[in-house]
Amino acid sequence: MKILVIGSGGREHALVWKLRQSPRVSKIYCAPGNGGIAAEAECIAVDVKSLDSLVAAANQIQPDLTVVGPELPLMLGVVDEFTRRGWRTFGPTKAAAQLEISKSFAKEFLQRHRIPTAHYAICNSMDDVRPALHHFHTPVVVKADGLAAGKGVVIAQSKDEAATVASDMLSGKMLGEAGARVVLEEFLSGDELSFLVVSDGERVAPLVAAQDHKRVGDGDSGPNTGGMGAYTARTIVDDKMRDWLVTHIARPVVAGMKAEGAEYKGVLYCGLMMTARGPMVLEFNCRFGDPETQPILMRLESDLVEALEASIDGRTSDGDFRWSDDAAVSVVMASGGYPGAYEVGKKITGLEDAAKVEGVKVFHAGTTARDGTFYTAGGRVLGVTARAAELQTAVERAYEACGKISFEGAHYRRDIAARALKR
Ligand code: AMP
Ligand code: GLY
Repeated sequence: MKILVIGSGGREHALVWKLRQSPRVSKIYCAPGNGGIAAEAECIAVDVKSLDSLVAAANQIQPDLTVVGPELPLMLGVVDEFTRRGWRTFGPTKAAAQLEISKSFAKEFLQRHRIPTAHYAICNSMDDVRPALHHFHTPVVVKADGLAAGKGVVIAQSKDEAATVASDMLSGKMLGEAGARVVLEEFLSGDELSFLVVSDGERVAPLVAAQDHKRVGDGDSGPNTGGMGAYTARTIVDDKMRDWLVTHIARPVVAGMKAEGAEYKGVLYCGLMMTARGPMVLEFNCRFGDPETQPILMRLESDLVEALEASIDGRTSDGDFRWSDDAAVSVVMASGGYPGAYEVGKKITGLEDAAKVEGVKVFHAGTTARDGTFYTAGGRVLGVTARAAELQTAVERAYEACGKISFEGAHYRRDIAARALKR
């Protein structure tokens, strides 16, 4: 069968890499893909911001299955449009993707269905913000309602700061349309957990849990990013907790969406805070996480195509995924300046040596290839991913591989999974 993967990052490289292992796949395309993906899939130029462009690409390819990586095409309704044309597509419809697209929708949904989440207030203007702030302790979390590529959340240390941030968001100065409504939220502390499940609209099958590292610097310092590294190990979440998360979070979400007429099919990413009061939902994403997908798929031993088709066909079951007990970790190597302004076009060396380290796979996030040489083409450039029986060994392998790769301005966190290793 022919498969089309939409997207161009490290997550899509990992999806391509894993889908290709299925004996049923004869040809795999990626639109638009990147320099590294081009070695494993045929890359097709598209504009992921344009539904017409995506339809044209799929029309040319006639894939048997389309897998959507990023949220933007989902928000545009790519699943609705492809499905209407009879093309089998993995992912939620535009209506179901509201869980990620609108934080106010997600918060009200969680409250309606009594799913644990932080206290909040939805504000449409400063007239809502000022009185609402009386009901919060500091720090206060201020969130833009719409999609803001990881830049829509500010943890304000004082109420004055919260008011200023809210005002900047509401005026459109900070994030444009995405900030036209804001959500104030109680600050939660604890360990963050990325808990992903695949759903067919009714049933859910959990993936192994992972932990992301969102801040740019070691020790969780500096600004937020798309994610600087992630790991997954059998020690993160025991069976009892996994069952709790399925019963009290994932299944009620899917049941709630169905009851409200927006059946949720595809992968549901639950961003959780494991607080002293128990797990609470911070956010939903309606897609695979990036970089969580890279280490998660390294632990997957069963056929990903089968699991994605089960979601489309309405026959998801717990047995769709078979996992290795190994640990896996992904370290993101980023361009100098990221998550702020950065330059591209820097030559990358050492990739072949890095790939020779035992258990290592280097996923490309922002690269282009010219005459057999790779150059940087984005903020997050590579996801250096390693697998081993023990987390410690996986971490050592990933960093050994990172040490072999260089490009001008490259930086990466040295403490991915460090907290888990200390425990
Ligand atoms: P979100 O886009 O909602 O996941 O927020 C991005 C990041 O902000 C999260 O990964 C957390 O690190 C942090 N964050 C969001 N909401 C809260 C909260 N209520 N309390 C503490 N930290 C939060
Ligand atoms: N790694 C966070 C995300 O995919 O949204």
